[in-house]
Amino acid sequence: MNSYKIFTLVGGISSQSLNKKFYQSIVELGPDGFEFETFDISKLPFYSQDLENDPPDIVSEFKEKIRESDGILFITPEYNRSFPGVLKNAIDWGSRPYGMSLWDKKVGAVIGASPGNIGTFGAQHHLRQVLAYLNMHVLAQPEVYFNSSAAKDETTKQILTKYFKAFHELLELISGHDHSQAMNYKSQGLEDSPLAH
Ligand SMILES: Cc1cc2nc3c(=O)[nH]c(=O)nc-3n(C[C@H](O)[C@H](O)[C@H](O)COP(=O)(O)O)c2cc1C
Repeated sequence: MNSYKIFTLVGGISSQSLNKKFYQSIVELGPDGFEFETFDISKLPFYSQDLENDPPDIVSEFKEKIRESDGILFITPEYNRSFPGVLKNAIDWGSRPYGMSLWDKKVGAVIGASPGNIGTFGAQHHLRQVLAYLNMHVLAQPEVYFNSSAAKDETTKQILTKYFKAFHELLELISGHDHSQAMNYKSQGLEDSPLAH
């Protein structure tokens, strides 16, 4: 099985973040075919156009992680029915300078945990809208909304295993390791979709 390097952006930055714990649960679960890495996005300064051509080292480091990854996993909490500003800030950094977005054609997946009953539904769907604009290939199904951080019980493990199996299939399809499927995809002219900036 091909292994993919997944750069994970976690939108929770507090020391007790549910979503940071959720990330750890995923790493511990160790789904087949993935290597995970994350980054403390709270260390990034606020995006400013004044900084983008000669960004601070931490931004360059962040961008290099995006560049060298095979796919991106977004783990988001829900803030006021959307995703947190700190995550948007990280996404904005990766999208600039104009015409040089690092998100373009990247394979991605979105997941999240909140204590509330809707389990990040609002956050994930706002985030998907942004990622669609950035021309990312984002896993559509299964959608997963957690209202706990546990990957410890059997049901949660089964849901996550299914989720990562689907993410792996999407990576195979778009990264071209599964050549027959990738050719099929390309024959539909989908590899040249323009970056809508
Ligand atoms: C500013 C703010 C807004 C919030 N809005 C929502 C919300 O709209 N829906 C929800 O389910 N939880 C909401 N919450 C609760 C968070 O989802 C909860 O604090 C969660 O644990 C945050 O994720 P984290 O622990 O990974 O930082 C909000 C929390 C904060 C601080």
